[in-house]
Amino acid sequence: MRTDRLKVSLGNLRLDNPTMLASGILGYSAETLSSIVAGGAGAVVTKSVGLKPRKGYANPTVVQADFGLINALGLPNPGIDEFVGEIHEMKRLGIPLIVSVYGFSAEEYATVAKKAVGAGADAMELNVSCPHVKETGSEIGQKPEVLAEVVRKVKAVVDRPVFVKLSPNVTDLAEIAEAAVKAGADGITAINTVRAMAIDVETAMPILSNKRGGLSGPAVKPIALRCVYDIHERVKVPILGCGGVTGWRDAVEFFLAGASAVQIGTAIALKGPNVFRSVAKGVDAYLKRKGLRSVNEIVGLSHRS
Ligand SMILES: Cc1cc2nc3c(=O)[nH]c(=O)nc-3n(C[C@H](O)[C@H](O)[C@H](O)COP(=O)(O)O)c2cc1C
Repeated sequence: MRTDRLKVSLGNLRLDNPTMLASGILGYSAETLSSIVAGGAGAVVTKSVGLKPRKGYANPTVVQADFGLINALGLPNPGIDEFVGEIHEMKRLGIPLIVSVYGFSAEEYATVAKKAVGAGADAMELNVSCPHVKETGSEIGQKPEVLAEVVRKVKAVVDRPVFVKLSPNVTDLAEIAEAAVKAGADGITAINTVRAMAIDVETAMPILSNKRGGLSGPAVKPIALRCVYDIHERVKVPILGCGGVTGWRDAVEFFLAGASAVQIGTAIALKGPNVFRSVAKGVDAYLKRKGLRSVNEIVGLSHRS
C-alpha cells in the first residue's frame, strides 16, 4: 500500500505505511517474514533474541481465551550468534527491520544489540516487558533506574533508533516511559501482553505449563489504548501502539491516542498476513474521507481540549 498519506518517519526510519509486525509472531525466519511483507506490512519486528539459545517452556504454551490468546512461550530463541545469519536474509525483504532484543543484564542487552546492528538491523526494540520469564522482561521494565541503565548501555553501542517496549503490568507506565526517554530511548512501544491465566475445569489445573502467561488480542485493546494515551501526555517521542489491532478503526484509535504507527500480532492468527494491507487501506480511506493529507495529522488528535 503506497500512498503519500500513509508514509511515516520514526526518527530516521521511513515506513511506506504505519503498520508493522509485532515481535514474536512469525518473527524467526526470513522465509516466514516474507509472507508478512507480501501481506503489506510497513516494517517488521523479529522475535526477541538473547545472548544465548533458549528452549522456552514445555507445551502447552498458548491457549485461546475469549477475544484473545494467552501465551507463555518462555522466550525460545536460537541466540544472537546463530540469529545473525537470519538477520542478513531478513535484510533482503526490503522493508525496515527492527530486531527485538532481551537480556538478563544491561550488558547483555548491549552485547546483543551491537551484534544485531552489526548484522544489519535498522533499529532495536528492547523487550523489557515479557511477563513470564524471571530476571528479564518486565522485571527490568518495572524499575525505572534499572531500565534507564539498559537504555544507556544500548545507546552507547548502537547508532540506530532504539525503541523500548513497555509492559502494562505496572502502576505508572508513563513514569517508566519518561525514564526510558530521559535515558535516550528514541521511541516507545506499548504494550506487551497483560498478565493472565486459564484453568482447565476438568483437570482442575492451570492450562499453560508455566501456569501464568500474557493475554493479547482484541481483549487488551482498550488497555493498550489507554497506555498509549498516558504515554503521549508525558513524552514527545514516537510511540508504536500495540495490542488488539485487527482492523483500520483500531489503528485510527491508536493514532488519535498518540501512536505514530501500530504493531499487529494476534490478528495474523485470526485474519492471516493480509491484515496489514487491509488495515493500511482502511486508514488511507479514512484519511481521504476526512480530507487529510497525512497520518501524522491525526497523531495525538484526541488530546486536544
Ligand atoms: C505467541 C506470542 C509470542 C510473543 N512473543 C513476543 C516476543 O518474543 N517479544 C515481545 O516483545 N513480545 C512478544 N509478544 C507480544 C506481542 O508482540 C504484542 O506485544 C502483544 O501480543 C499484543 O499485540 P497483539 O494483540 O496484536 O498480539 C508475543 C505475543 C504472542 C501472542
